[in-house]
Amino acid sequence: MKKIAVLPGDGIGPEIMAEALKVLAALELPIELKQAPVGGAAYELHGHPLPEATLQLALDSDAVLFGAVGDWKYDTLERRLRPEQAILGLRKALGLFANFRPAICHAPLTDASSLKPELVAGLDILIIRELTGDIYFGQPRGRRTAVDGHFPGAEEAFDTMRYSRPEIERIAHVAFQAARKRNKKVTSVDKANVLETFQFWKDVVTEVHAQYPDVALDHMYVDNAAMQLVKAPKKFDVLVTGNMFGDILSDEAAMLTGSIGMLPSASLNERGQGLYEPSHGSAPDIAGKGVANPLATILSAAMMLRYSLQNPDAADRIEAAVGAVLDAGLRTADIAAAGAATVSTREMGDAVVAA
Ligand code: NAI
Ligand code: MG
Repeated sequence: MKKIAVLPGDGIGPEIMAEALKVLAALELPIELKQAPVGGAAYELHGHPLPEATLQLALDSDAVLFGAVGDWKYDTLERRLRPEQAILGLRKALGLFANFRPAICHAPLTDASSLKPELVAGLDILIIRELTGDIYFGQPRGRRTAVDGHFPGAEEAFDTMRYSRPEIERIAHVAFQAARKRNKKVTSVDKANVLETFQFWKDVVTEVHAQYPDVALDHMYVDNAAMQLVKAPKKFDVLVTGNMFGDILSDEAAMLTGSIGMLPSASLNERGQGLYEPSHGSAPDIAGKGVANPLATILSAAMMLRYSLQNPDAADRIEAAVGAVLDAGLRTADIAAAGAATVSTREMGDAVVAA
């Protein structure tokens, strides 16, 4: 029996989670779901956004299904008590190092988007971002008085870009294995022409590739990748890159898809445990109104089945049901063309269950 920690969180979190749970229940899977408070909801109950019991539940589970956390009313709290700290705490405690951000553009949604349909309709790419290394965490970092460079004696700031061989190897394995479940093509994005760190990245990814002869690998500089994502995004299948380039490219790719309300995400560790959540936040502006799009959370549950619960058939069924509902024309407000009819959060969830 696989165990899932369900952490609905704040704002629209509980509303969209209820719909994802309905979909999971309809599949009648051998899974055990346990709920716990997180974020602002947990702070209200226990004085901390990630209480010990919630953290323990996550550690003891095969996967965490996470709604969203945060509200403006916590902006004045000291940093360690803010809702968003719960995500960072979970990432750290679970050792989540691989961030999966699919960018999928369901063909019928292009009527509500301002993008060229021929470029994005049917888009289905997966960006895999390394989450624990790179210039975001490298030491040393700080401020000092420059001893050399263009302005010796001036105040300066610096960060350290670094990757170790095991860090690159493990994310490369994740990317090749994910590609095997898709169209067997990996593009590794680097800046090997300028940065030693990313020449090393390129060398190590190429070495790991020798173990995956059935998967095609190519390399692309990050500036070109930024261009190609806009010009011809469908040419990609799996795109793997470091923490900083992945941060930027995954947000760029998100805008190819129509709405943030459609985008799932996953963060995985070496044991295959994962945290699955919509890419959006708690949307306090629409919380409690029953209008939030639950599809990002429902699709996150599908990713959970595929990547942590080894049940690709159930994942396929959810994704097919979402596609069918969109084909049938159902739209929450965020994905509706101007003036078109819309459905509520619950009606969308019910339609996916029916499909
Ligand atoms: P947001 O993603 O919550 O909302 C941005 C805009 O998108 C809003 O207009 C919202 O109504 C809309 N939106 C988001 N999800 C939607 C959905 N499912 N259906 C329809 N519309 C949707 O980002 P924002 O406003 O910057 O942040 C709100 C709160 O969420 C903040 O406290 C922030 O820190 C937190 N946050 C939490 C995240 C998480 O839990 N992983 C990630 C990002 C933000
Ligand atoms: Mg970002």
